[in-house]
Amino acid sequence: KVNAVILAGGSGSRLWPMSRQHRPKQFLALDGDDSLLQTTINRLSPTIEAKDVLIVTQESHAKGEAYHALLPYQAIYEPIGRNTAPAIALAAAYLMAKGADPVMVVLPADHVIKDEARFREHLGTAIEAAQTGKLITFGIQPTRPDTGFGYIKTRATSEEKRVLSTECRVPSEKAESSSPQHSALTTQNKVSQHSAHSTQNNVSQHSALSTQNSLSGTQNSVLEVERFTEKPDQETAEHFLKEGDYYWNSGMFVWRASTILAEIQRYLPEVDKVVQTILAERQTGSTFQQAVEKHFAEMPSISIDYGVLEKSDRVSLIPCDIGWNDVGSWQAVHEISPKDANGNALQGNVIAVDCKDSLIRAEKRLVAVIGVEDLCVIETADAVLISKSDQTQRVREVVDKLHDQG
Ligand code: GDD
Ligand code: MG
Repeated sequence: KVNAVILAGGSGSRLWPMSRQHRPKQFLALDGDDSLLQTTINRLSPTIEAKDVLIVTQESHAKGEAYHALLPYQAIYEPIGRNTAPAIALAAAYLMAKGADPVMVVLPADHVIKDEARFREHLGTAIEAAQTGKLITFGIQPTRPDTGFGYIKTRATSEEKRVLSTECRVPSEKAESSSPQHSALTTQNKVSQHSAHSTQNNVSQHSALSTQNSLSGTQNSVLEVERFTEKPDQETAEHFLKEGDYYWNSGMFVWRASTILAEIQRYLPEVDKVVQTILAERQTGSTFQQAVEKHFAEMPSISIDYGVLEKSDRVSLIPCDIGWNDVGSWQAVHEISPKDANGNALQGNVIAVDCKDSLIRAEKRLVAVIGVEDLCVIETADAVLISKSDQTQRVREVVDKLHDQG
């Protein structure tokens, strides 16, 4: 049994003025006609059906019109935001209380994935590997020392990867005639234990093969994780990039409900305590949602990354090349949008004369722009943003100023 749990409770402010407190990023249509949340659910099909999707979001978000445009899915509403660890704990307890111990596919609601078929392939591998009590993460090859991500170091060193990819070329028909033993190894391989000379022995050769395949992208593989570092500072992020073997955490996770609950009990007893209170409240006749409303505010605020993934020794990683983008800025929106011959992404009622490499988005009014380059212009009903493309992450400063003004 497999369930998807969609985390849709964040209040992203990085896409101001489109994203607001009650219309965060996940409810915006940034990549096609559907909201990012709806797209997140759609791309699961046919691996996971709509009836097995559970949305966890804040009550206040669910009041918005964007939420009601969604098909009806199972949902848990948090009275207040407490970050991702309490949201995930709640979802796991809810699914267990229904009498199963499903594999949970935990997904952020606000990312873009271009290669959906490849994504579902990796998902299949992850679901299989999670049965054995692993916490599966999906790793993205980092391209810049971004401090907004988690960094995951796998056990394969660059040297081992180089050796594996140059010396372990096995004809593909050999790979296909692999024994069942081999497929077990694919999900269990311990890359660090296989040095170049151990490939003389048959079993290691199989392990090496599965690693090499994952590196060339022809087959999925699960790597062991040495360290998980959530949101490092700039200097550390730069160091990680130089060192290699680090992946960005995509924020998508696959594990059994019982596995993550055990890890939460171990590393976040304060969260577990509130979960137990909520489950006990249910015994007195309340619905799950009523119990959540009564006790959820007692939860500490902590993300699953800081709370569990940095500490647990059960973390594994599947390297992914799936056209992933967390659309964390208007510059990123420009990157993922279809563009004309001059590199412009013009969205809505826009007239651009002699413009280059610009994102111009009109929501309510006609917007005309002349003779600009590398600019983002975002028009909405009550606010307009004009920013140089390479400085759009600074809308945080605008949002901070707005908060200061009350
Ligand atoms: N239900 C619920 N309740 N969902 C929440 C809450 C909450 O209180 N807070 C955040 N979420 C949702 C967001 O809507 C988003 O879909 C997801 O959980 C992740 O939260 P973010 O706030 O966007 O996390 P992040 O971007 O700072 O960091 C995470 O994602 C990165 C990749 O984009 C971490 O997992 C990083 O390690 C990772 O690199
Ligand atoms: Mg995010």
